[in-house]
Amino acid sequence: MQAMHTELDEIPRQTGMDRLHRRDFDRLAAFIESYSGIKMPPSKITMVEGRLRRRVRSTGAASLGEYCRRLFEGGTLEAEAVHLIDAVTTNKTEFFREPEHFDYLTATALPTLLEERRSASNGLKLWSAACSTGAEPYTLAMVLAEFRQTRSVSRVSILATDLCTEVLQTGAQAIYPEAAVLSVPIELRRRYMLRSRDRTRGLVRIVPGLRDWVQFARFNLMAEDYGVDRDFDVIFCRNVLIYFDKPTQQAVLRRLCRHLRPGGYLFLGHSESVAGLTLPLHVVGHTVFRRAD
Ligand SMILES: C[S@@+](CC[C@H](N)C(=O)[O-])C[C@H]1O[C@@H](n2cnc3c(N)ncnc32)[C@H](O)[C@@H]1O
Repeated sequence: MQAMHTELDEIPRQTGMDRLHRRDFDRLAAFIESYSGIKMPPSKITMVEGRLRRRVRSTGAASLGEYCRRLFEGGTLEAEAVHLIDAVTTNKTEFFREPEHFDYLTATALPTLLEERRSASNGLKLWSAACSTGAEPYTLAMVLAEFRQTRSVSRVSILATDLCTEVLQTGAQAIYPEAAVLSVPIELRRRYMLRSRDRTRGLVRIVPGLRDWVQFARFNLMAEDYGVDRDFDVIFCRNVLIYFDKPTQQAVLRRLCRHLRPGGYLFLGHSESVAGLTLPLHVVGHTVFRRAD
């Protein structure tokens, strides 16, 4: 299982430890921001030092300074970019995070979509656009599976994308510690999760039927052309825009809107806002939007 980064791994700066020089931090910050959109103000220097120390050891560099010299003067930046970005992304997530969104989905959004289409023959297409370790797309899969028990939906597909390759590996394996799935209602755990034969390992795995619905792929929300389908019924893009500045949020959301079918639903994180942005969306719930045209 891969290490998941949370804001908690920001450790206090200690004297005597290998430290990042301000010039190196500025070079790293400029690269990270332009590649991923993630804002890197100087207040993040301790976090970046902490996250990169493991990477420094794996590459065999003697210090953070040497690691940076190899990147920016030794020509290794392109090859190292994936690992560098993996190290600095914050991947905090959980099953049924911000649960009101899943209630809204089953009580309002999905019935509305099916009614307006008057035929469920096309099935439903969802996109979890910053999916981290898979808790969000598998929550969607469980919610959709429950919904299908009473409503006829021919097919469900869930695209699950993230920039960080480590979390995508976890998502594709679909294996989680039991402690990580405690937020899943017990009856859903019984239906959609398998416990490891060796109970001492304390692991569960999502059932194959739901795993088949979810396709994981590396994807950068900063890309100019998204190159994915343009007819998603529902897009979840939660708790990632907070890392971007306003112009980047506007650009990302504009591109995401193009991939929603008219009337499709967009869910943002509870602390995210579209205030001051010009977008083809109207508000239908708390951090829930529909494509307007
Ligand atoms: C805090 S997690 C949120 C996960 C999930 N959506 C949730 O709400 O629980 C943010 C995720 O966004 C991803 N991310 C950051 N920048 C990205 C970018 N430019 N393109 C795609 N994913 C990105 C990170 O790798 C991380 O896994």
